[in-house]
Amino acid sequence: MELKPPPTVGPPLWLLAELTYRCPLHCVFCYNPVDYATQADELDTEGWLRVLHEGRALGAVQCGFSGGEPLLRDDLEVLVAEARKLGYYTNLLTSGVGLTAARAEALKAAGLDHVQLSFQDSTREVNDFLSHTKTFALKYQVAGLIKAQGWPMVMNVVIHRLNIDHIDRIIAMADELGAEYLELANTQYYSWALENREHLLPTAAQLRQAEATTARWREQLGERMRLFFVAPDYHDGRPKKCVNGWGSMFLTVAPDGTALPCHTARMLPGLAFPNVREHSLRHIWYESEGFNRYRGTGWMKEPCSSCDQREQDLGGCRCQAYMLAQDPAAADPVCPKSPHHGVVAQALARAEQPGGGVVERPLVFRDAATSRRLAQAA
Ligand code: FES
Repeated sequence: MELKPPPTVGPPLWLLAELTYRCPLHCVFCYNPVDYATQADELDTEGWLRVLHEGRALGAVQCGFSGGEPLLRDDLEVLVAEARKLGYYTNLLTSGVGLTAARAEALKAAGLDHVQLSFQDSTREVNDFLSHTKTFALKYQVAGLIKAQGWPMVMNVVIHRLNIDHIDRIIAMADELGAEYLELANTQYYSWALENREHLLPTAAQLRQAEATTARWREQLGERMRLFFVAPDYHDGRPKKCVNGWGSMFLTVAPDGTALPCHTARMLPGLAFPNVREHSLRHIWYESEGFNRYRGTGWMKEPCSSCDQREQDLGGCRCQAYMLAQDPAAADPVCPKSPHHGVVAQALARAEQPGGGVVERPLVFRDAATSRRLAQAA
């Protein structure tokens, strides 16, 4: 079935090239699909170059290179150079593993505009535990390399129950390392984070404390570093306008060339997402069913279709609606008007119980064997 886009659809301003799902880290909140190990195929250099050209011709202005760990691709410098030549603003999203002085220099020469470096925590113990690797010291070195190349540094820390009480020290660390921006990204419960939700969901009091600490630092830091505290939708009680609206701005290309409106849309049932090996990005963006199905508000049913907030939040997140209500066209269950809101309320109530994060099931670390097991069980 081909659905036509609403006449107001603009170009995909943000192209995200997920170059690979391979990654040396094993983060418990990784947003890569839980079954990533069954999707080992990757576009070759020629394939990615074509994506970059077609994306720019469509009107994309920003290109992010992510993964997995994008530095595991040894053609990264070639792709960055081409993207820069085409006029994109280029951004590397990395764990830092693999960013040697020589590669930093080569990426600078290729024209890379900025680097987003992730940390798991301000302490070696928690950083190394959550990623199941000894990478804390290395990330410090990489922060130095980023500064030495004169790149603006965005530091990204995913926040959850196990590190939220360290937020004061996390901000101090980012300041010491000379970050220009710090993204304190409260965990979104998709993929591996959903598997581990009971361990990761903070209490409301933890969250309030973290917000107050962030506000205090904001005043103190002034212009030196910008702090973004990305509020968690579970606690907020308001659905987020996910990816700024389905097919409105973001175009993600997964490692195997599947084009998606968000990282996780591939799991949605009854929707086929086209592959860049078979279709042009123009066709994918404007004509494909995958990108048109949840554009705008025409797909909505109650309670979204008569809600006075429908243009503001666009019904929330389609992937979350599927994960929590088994219906991608349902209202996002984080919304109190959703008939499935009880699922979110229960998870929050459980987090408030003494030791609420202590569950019998151990944390599930991202790795290939677990991924295959979970894919088989699905
Ligand atoms: Fe897929 Fe929100 S993550 S629509």
